[in-house]
Amino acid sequence: MATDPVVPASFIRAHTRPGRPSLVPEVGLLLADDVVALWEALEAGQVDPGSDPPFWAAAWPGGQALARYVLDHPDVVAGRTVLDLGAGSGLVAVAALLAGAREVVASEVDPYGRAAIDANAEDNGVGPVTVRGDLLDEEPDPGVDVVLAGDVCYDRTMTERVLPYLGKAWLGGATVFLGDPGRPYLPKEGLVGVAEYDVPDTEGPLTRRTTVWRLP
Ligand SMILES: C[S@@+](CC[C@H](N)C(=O)[O-])C[C@H]1O[C@@H](n2cnc3c(N)ncnc32)[C@H](O)[C@@H]1O
Repeated sequence: MATDPVVPASFIRAHTRPGRPSLVPEVGLLLADDVVALWEALEAGQVDPGSDPPFWAAAWPGGQALARYVLDHPDVVAGRTVLDLGAGSGLVAVAALLAGAREVVASEVDPYGRAAIDANAEDNGVGPVTVRGDLLDEEPDPGVDVVLAGDVCYDRTMTERVLPYLGKAWLGGATVFLGDPGRPYLPKEGLVGVAEYDVPDTEGPLTRRTTVWRLP
């Protein structure tokens, strides 16, 4: 079995700077001003960055909305075991811990993202976060009470993998929330909207109306 590559936190810190997502100023994050320049740096780095851009160096609208919701409704996670699925920077994981979650697992497929989650949790004085890789081919852990998925329906392939996993977690008794800025791949039937926010877009100058959905 291939060894999981490890990215040093120093690499994350060298290619980002501390910032605060505008909807969630309570959380400090290591963010990139120029994601393309960062992507080039990744290609020269120690670990194969694969074909994905550095999602972990931005606070995506879905994650910002979910983090805002959790901080404003701490009862949703307080004292519970939480999974942040597709964690990116770990914004939602950090927010869940700040809101009183007992334990947080963050699942992120990108080794740079996993290093960023550790660094961001440390910088916010929370944790530890248990950082895992891709869980989508596994059965959901029955010990997880709440699944939080921020902006995970950004492409068709990911959506086709993530929705069945969320459905299984929900059938197993977990409460499941998605934060989504109107991605076309997410079918809204059967979802309950619990909050809406206008969030500055990571992909342009405008804001995006972003919904926190709950599986019923
Ligand atoms: C659009 S980003 C959202 C990141 C974060 N939740 C936020 O809202 O800021 C989606 C994230 O899902 C991650 N991802 C993609 N496939 C995954 C998988 N199978 N398991 C875990 N994470 C995955 C990507 O690497 C990326 O960091």
